[in-house]
Amino acid sequence: MSKNVLVLPGDGIGPEIVAQARRVLELVNQQDNLDLTLSEALVGGSAIDAEGVPLPEATLEAAHAADAILLGAVGGPKWDTNPDFQIRPEKGLLGIRSNLGLFGNLRPAILYPQLAHASTLKPEVVSGLDILIVRELTGGIYFGQPRGVRVKEDGVREGYNTYVYDENEIRRIGRVAFEAARARDKRLCSVDKANVLEVTVLWREIMEELAKEYPDVELSHMYVDNAAMQLVRAPKQFDVVVTGNMFGDILSDAAAMLTGSIGMLPSASLDVNGKGMYEPCHGSAPDIAGQNMANPLATILSVAMMLRYSLAAGDTADRIEAAVSQVLDQNLRTGDIWSEGMQKVSTTEMGDAVIAALQA
Ligand code: NAI
Ligand code: MG
Repeated sequence: MSKNVLVLPGDGIGPEIVAQARRVLELVNQQDNLDLTLSEALVGGSAIDAEGVPLPEATLEAAHAADAILLGAVGGPKWDTNPDFQIRPEKGLLGIRSNLGLFGNLRPAILYPQLAHASTLKPEVVSGLDILIVRELTGGIYFGQPRGVRVKEDGVREGYNTYVYDENEIRRIGRVAFEAARARDKRLCSVDKANVLEVTVLWREIMEELAKEYPDVELSHMYVDNAAMQLVRAPKQFDVVVTGNMFGDILSDAAAMLTGSIGMLPSASLDVNGKGMYEPCHGSAPDIAGQNMANPLATILSVAMMLRYSLAAGDTADRIEAAVSQVLDQNLRTGDIWSEGMQKVSTTEMGDAVIAALQA
């Protein structure tokens, strides 16, 4: 049966990098008989310009109907200062995430050996790094009620948020992480602050419970402050890391920077059925938009994740990842990952090279 992929180019470099990723998806669709049907819709600033809102009704409907969504990036100086927060580009993304219940955020941090120099850390610490951070995306302190700023009896103002997870929320993100670990090196590190926060005592308990269902996966626990240190000291000790929304926000950005090449990092946000939205970790890069110089590889690698996690086409995903590694072996580099002696290529030339590698 045919599956639907919704493509959301977005703003800034979004349309440029998505165009290359779409070419790749169309090619493998043909080559591997995947029977995918692609459609496109507006989101973010471009949707604000055309329809007055960052998430038009038609886009949300198409997102519901799709089996997977490929997103470029949203945002830009033209819209980011709108005093009405409802008419900001990122509301488009948040709207899709919450309406579709995309609670499971998968952020790989992979450093291709060819790019070891791109990291600010010593090559021997990060070369060949391949870890996966699984972040809970729709709960925790970012969403907990009550929240706000109030005036105390003595007239002093205080801000407050609520850190809450119920056991079902913990269990479902735990399952995503255990499944991912099972498909990788079978090691899962759960990150919490169980020495201070009751909510993460429960978190730890549920992870232990789940571990009984996954005897082939080795579960360990780490406090978040130590995890931050270990991530910088010896990141290769990790395989899969699972954590809540706020800790995951911070740790996944730190992990991304270990690789030094944000233009290379894909991500996935999944619902309970494995449907997901896939996007590069970076933003819309307005500083280089429209110049055919953005790195399309993070978006192309997002297509690979989409095929693996939402479209049951893991072999095709492997082929795309191998093709990306091959173009790096050919010394082709966009500006963000360029170094002395390498051949500088444009967005479209990088797309051409990946296509050629897939056709070889
Ligand atoms: P950014 O990730 O867009 O850019 C940071 C730096 O990295 C810039 O110098 C940019 O040129 C470079 N860069 C990013 N992606 C690149 C690529 N593929 N190839 C080469 N260089 C690349 O983050 P920034 O500047 O903080 O935000 C710019 C806009 O993007 C803002 O409107 C922000 O709200 C939005 N944004 C959107 C996200 C999304 O759609 N998921 C995520 C993060 C930011
Ligand atoms: Mg962040």
